[in-house]
Amino acid sequence: MKENRSSFGSRIGFVLAAAGSAVGLGNLWRFPYLAAKYGGGIFLLVYIVLAITFGFALMITEIAIGRKTRLSCIGAYRALDKRFGFLGWLAALVPVIIVPYYCVIGGWVLKYFAEFVAGRGKLVAANADQYFTSFISDSAGGFFSTPVPWFILFALLTMVVVLGGVEKGIEKVSRIMMPVLVVLSILVAVFSLTMPGALAGLKYYLMPDFSKFSTATVLGAMGQMFYSMSLAMGIMITYGSYMQKENLMERSVAQIEIFDTGIALIAGLMIIPAVVAFNGGDPTLAQQSAGPGLMFVVLPRVFEAMQWGGFIGAAFFLLVLFAALTSSISLMETVVSIVQDKLHWKRVPATLAVTVLLLAMGMLSCLGYSESFAAIKPLGMAFLDFFDFISNSVMMPIVAFLTCILIGHVVGTKVIADEVKSENGIFRREKLHRVMIRWVAPILLLAILGGELLKFFGVIKI
Ligand code: PHE
Repeated sequence: MKENRSSFGSRIGFVLAAAGSAVGLGNLWRFPYLAAKYGGGIFLLVYIVLAITFGFALMITEIAIGRKTRLSCIGAYRALDKRFGFLGWLAALVPVIIVPYYCVIGGWVLKYFAEFVAGRGKLVAANADQYFTSFISDSAGGFFSTPVPWFILFALLTMVVVLGGVEKGIEKVSRIMMPVLVVLSILVAVFSLTMPGALAGLKYYLMPDFSKFSTATVLGAMGQMFYSMSLAMGIMITYGSYMQKENLMERSVAQIEIFDTGIALIAGLMIIPAVVAFNGGDPTLAQQSAGPGLMFVVLPRVFEAMQWGGFIGAAFFLLVLFAALTSSISLMETVVSIVQDKLHWKRVPATLAVTVLLLAMGMLSCLGYSESFAAIKPLGMAFLDFFDFISNSVMMPIVAFLTCILIGHVVGTKVIADEVKSENGIFRREKLHRVMIRWVAPILLLAILGGELLKFFGVIKI
């Protein structure tokens, strides 16, 4: 299998595909709200520092593991140390859990995009809360008013790209979608900033409020960054395994980080000033509206209040759609590459099998908010929230922590450094990498895990 492994055609193709994975719903709906909540500029500062230290170290480690072993995560961890084979399985399970529900949310985005393109933005906004609730709880009546067809369509779009392969599918699509995404986000941000009253919101977003700085700020920034960079779920290992040996890894990681952080910052510019202006200069709405509520309830109302709102709404949901698609592609590709490596299947049957599994599992999340599922709530959550909690809050910090232990204390960070240096003998941030992976990252990761669990059990509120 090793000899004919697929690969990206160029370094920039690799960077755009990896950035495509990293830039996703996390950047667009989670980052702006966290920034609003944790003191604006101070949060941005903490985030950037963490991205170039902690995030850098973890990302380059995963990419190097992939490129060194030329295997997807199950084989890769085993190849480094037999006793850590189980870690590969654990990491592999994460995208298997995430991709179905990610496609469900992708389906919601598709639906809203279609509504805005059809000029029905006003209708959505008029009763935004109720519109969204009846849509996801499958009680609106009519086939296209239920989330199921949109979920299936989104999953099939993802499948088509993955079927196309690494260079002809993923790389090609990323090369188109990522630049369009950047242009659209700048366009929407400019429009938001010209809304009357937006300046107050801009100030709120960018000015550091030191009184809001606390451990929670750091913990919040860390958890966000970790998710945003698609770490600890085998994705970067898989993409690294498709990276050509002579491509400069350190520079690529820096570019992926700039892309990911840049889009998160612009997302804040698109959303915070507009929401603050919409709310008559009061920032509380921006601090409180997180996740689906922000994107599917608050923003449609904000767009309707804007000049050219229908058009801006359509542009916005198109860019969200691209962000979500490139992320779900990376998730599906990771699962497909595992099936290929483990079962020695060809790409087409592997992709089709993964799609069938995805559709079956995703149906639970897709219908989890409906009446008929009211009685089935694992840990008291709807299926989608349950899968999200298990993967992001529990499994990912564990996988990342054990990866640090494996690299930092079992096989040694030299293995990674040697892989990075195999290009031209240079690894500028080698010392930083070593300290991060051996000591700082494991401690921070335990703090993330502990924080999430305490939050879950209601001991703390952050
Ligand atoms: N990194 C993506 C984001 O910021 C999230 C993601 C999670 C992508 C899982 C792929 C897989 O939204």
